[in-house]
Amino acid sequence: MTTPSRRLVVGISGSSAPQLGDVFLRSCQGIAGLETHLVMSAGARRSIELEMGEDPAAVEALADVVYDPANLGAAISSGSFRTIGMVVIPCSMGTLGGIAAGTSTDLLRRAADVTLKERRPLILVARETPLSLIHLRNMETVTLAGATVLPPVPAFYHKPKTITDLLLHTCGRVLDQLGIEHELYRRWS
Ligand SMILES: Cc1cc2nc3c(=O)[nH]c(=O)nc-3n(C[C@H](O)[C@H](O)[C@H](O)COP(=O)(O)O)c2cc1C
Repeated sequence: MTTPSRRLVVGISGSSAPQLGDVFLRSCQGIAGLETHLVMSAGARRSIELEMGEDPAAVEALADVVYDPANLGAAISSGSFRTIGMVVIPCSMGTLGGIAAGTSTDLLRRAADVTLKERRPLILVARETPLSLIHLRNMETVTLAGATVLPPVPAFYHKPKTITDLLLHTCGRVLDQLGIEHELYRRWS
């Protein structure tokens, strides 16, 4: 068990590109002392099966601690459980809307709500295109509440050769937001 200051809550919700969550968890495994606390929505399980052709348990196995999304009594449901923040990767518009509304209807949304109320970093890798006015307004709401909306927008300055290179770039940008050192992509210099 690491010190509380190195616990990172990771949410995966049911948008396209669950590979982002998979690669992010793998990347975190290479970071000394970082402890991942994973909560996946039911939608995430479905997108992992449909888009990755994998058993969601294989993705869960990449995390240090895994929570049932229905368990609102879990540790990450309380602000007294100290963490360095939370990443939702990928983040569906459904989850974004739930976070913006503060509904806390499942553990993923509750953990995000707690992260905001405790003024800890909350990074939402929001994936949808095009965006409706509702999506944009929800992004504005969560940004005003302190979250960072970080869409998985590809860059080419690091000369990606594979899809994994593109995924690693987004994962690296997330870790940058948390101030965690990594070498997931080549920086522009
Ligand atoms: C294969 C698949 C891909 C999806 N892709 C997206 C997406 O890219 N963005 C999005 O907002 N919703 C997407 N959805 C819809 C969400 O899964 C759906 O709105 C769900 O209720 C979200 O719930 P959750 O946020 O609790 O996971 C997708 C659904 C499926 C089955």
